[in-house]
Amino acid sequence: MAKRIILDTDPGIDDSLAILLALASPEISLEGLSVVHGNSSTEQGTSNALSVLELAKASHIPVYHGCELPLVQPSLLAPETHGDHGIGYAKLPAPLNLPQVQKGSDYLIEKIMSSPGEITLVCIGPLTNLALAIRQEPCIVENVKEVFIMGGAIRHEGNTTPLAEFNTYVDPHAAHIVFHSGMPITLTPLDVTYQCIFLKDDLNRLLKIESPITKFISAATRFYMEFHDEYQKIDGCVINDPLTLALTFMPELCDYQELYVDVDLSGGVSMGNTFADFYKMTKKSANMKVALGVRPRDFMELFLERMEKLAESIA
Ligand code: BDR
Ligand code: CA
Repeated sequence: MAKRIILDTDPGIDDSLAILLALASPEISLEGLSVVHGNSSTEQGTSNALSVLELAKASHIPVYHGCELPLVQPSLLAPETHGDHGIGYAKLPAPLNLPQVQKGSDYLIEKIMSSPGEITLVCIGPLTNLALAIRQEPCIVENVKEVFIMGGAIRHEGNTTPLAEFNTYVDPHAAHIVFHSGMPITLTPLDVTYQCIFLKDDLNRLLKIESPITKFISAATRFYMEFHDEYQKIDGCVINDPLTLALTFMPELCDYQELYVDVDLSGGVSMGNTFADFYKMTKKSANMKVALGVRPRDFMELFLERMEKLAESIA
């Protein structure tokens, strides 16, 4: 049976690619999207989520507007990374659908509690919606099936400060609540995502298919590639979020360690930094499974094949 998935997301260029991968993957059933602030405002991200679903002819999937601000920290958006509208140079028509009336965190609670042990959450933005949901209804901790999180940098340098990854830096307090909640977590940090580079050759392979899907991917990733070239001297772009989604049905793409992981909240230079107790010095039990090794080209081949199929189906 297909895995029942809710995507908590801040679309976002790589978030949009994760939405497309979810739609193109028969192993999972995408039941809904909750949107959070992050790469762009929640309002812009919600509009992007609806437009991407409409582009892929999946407008039946409901989208929920989540939290606009981090729990404690001031807002931090990422127009330099994802463009002023969150999807790089891509231009999608304004969505025909509206978001649902229910708030994102209420939706997470309702879905998890109405199907105990069945819902897998995939969180690919700051963790504000999930942290709020945990505070509001702690019973979701025992009733969620699994949580896959894109976030953190364990042995890797940060991508937002020298020490911190974007999603954990933007709402470190939310990450702290989620990491210590007791939920069964699999973390996909920058240690593995920064090995998954979408190259110009990969884009050219997709562009052999004429489709609104390949046009969208091209316009969105062209901006992302320029960002990676200018700020990080990376040729191509790192597609963090689709890797996290892929692990829900192809866990063998990565190697994992069970670790105790925490996030720094001290407010200094390491605010939002995620660190793991590899040598069990704290004597605390592991609170998550952390992906620390990856087969990047196997992942990319999966991603490209799925995008080709989706593009062929939407001419
Ligand atoms: C994460 O931050 C965002 O820029 C991406 O969408 C991804 O979820 C990577 O640090
Ligand atoms: Ca994201």
